[in-house]
Amino acid sequence: MPKYTVTPWKVEGEVDYNKLIKDFGTEAIDDKLLQRLKKHTKDLHYMLRRKIFFSHRDMNFILDEHEKGNKFYLYTGRGPSGNTHLGHLVPWIFTKWLQDRFDAELWFQMTDDEKFIFNPKLELEETNKLAYENALDVIALGFKKGRTKIFADTDYAKTLYREAIKVAKKLNVSTTKAVFGLTDSDSVGKHFFTSVQSVPAFLPSALAGKNIPCLIPLAIDQDAHFRVTRDIIGKLGYYKPGILHCVFLPALTGPKGKMSASIAESAVYTTDAPEVVAKKIRKYAFSGGGDTIAEHRKKGGNPEIDVSYQWLRFFEEDDKKLEKIYRDYKSGRLLTGELKEILIEKLSRFLKAHQANREKARKVLDKYIIKD
Ligand code: TRP
Repeated sequence: MPKYTVTPWKVEGEVDYNKLIKDFGTEAIDDKLLQRLKKHTKDLHYMLRRKIFFSHRDMNFILDEHEKGNKFYLYTGRGPSGNTHLGHLVPWIFTKWLQDRFDAELWFQMTDDEKFIFNPKLELEETNKLAYENALDVIALGFKKGRTKIFADTDYAKTLYREAIKVAKKLNVSTTKAVFGLTDSDSVGKHFFTSVQSVPAFLPSALAGKNIPCLIPLAIDQDAHFRVTRDIIGKLGYYKPGILHCVFLPALTGPKGKMSASIAESAVYTTDAPEVVAKKIRKYAFSGGGDTIAEHRKKGGNPEIDVSYQWLRFFEEDDKKLEKIYRDYKSGRLLTGELKEILIEKLSRFLKAHQANREKARKVLDKYIIKD
């Protein structure tokens, strides 16, 4: 049995996603749910078709309410510990699609407090600054002005704190120990923090004085926070949030774990220059190909473990193109080097546009940020 760890602060090993569904007590996104969703969205995002978003909590409740005319808002976030990398963009790209299809408002939390508390090397000034740098990547993806609110926790503290203490009052240390594996030696800041991440799951309801359903798209490592939130939020009189979970983008260096911002060669950053991206992929992208060209031609490559192919699943929207690459690689017709060039081409085009949008975002940043 492969061993792995999935917590909000550590993802390691070869993750068994079906087992996570059981361990975390979530539900698989099945065809029935996809068809129900499709009634509203008309099409299905490629991340749904490919089961990159594979698990959920209470999505049927969210759709029940939607069908009754009680529209949901979206909530997601980012822990600003460094530059944004491609792995971070995965749930955000999907969230943008949900915003478009449902015309939903998005609340986006930048947890500068969290990264300060949890990372011994980071000062608050840095995490706060990174929050606004990371916000440029969010805006660059095309979220709607006026329908998108981005906030750094320490700059929206007055509003958040009033609600966070209501969660904290009902949260026992025995729970933070059991859910997050925190111990007596961890700071009270760590034990408290999940109260802050809970707030946006009901803040719009608290501010409006009526219950508005909340839907949270996230990578499954963040689920633990919302298990806590969902337990407490009912006691505060709010709906439990619905959740859509996605898998992790594998690290460039291998199919295990997730891409980590702290291991530079395992990640491609949104600010990397095209030459840097090409070099990283050529040098580090884990190959599922044969040891020699002759062997590869004979036996074919293994797309299931080849990181270049796996990344294309996350970034090549066209199913037909992707299927052809899969077949060609598996049959040995396509070599690893050639597959890498396909990925480089795809990402260069994507990043060129993203970087231009990111610079444009600086000018409109204040239209998205909320502070108090
Ligand atoms: N804690 C998350 C992180 O480290 C950031 C975050 C805050 C978040 N609120 C969220 C992520 C809601 C997903 C959904 O990245």
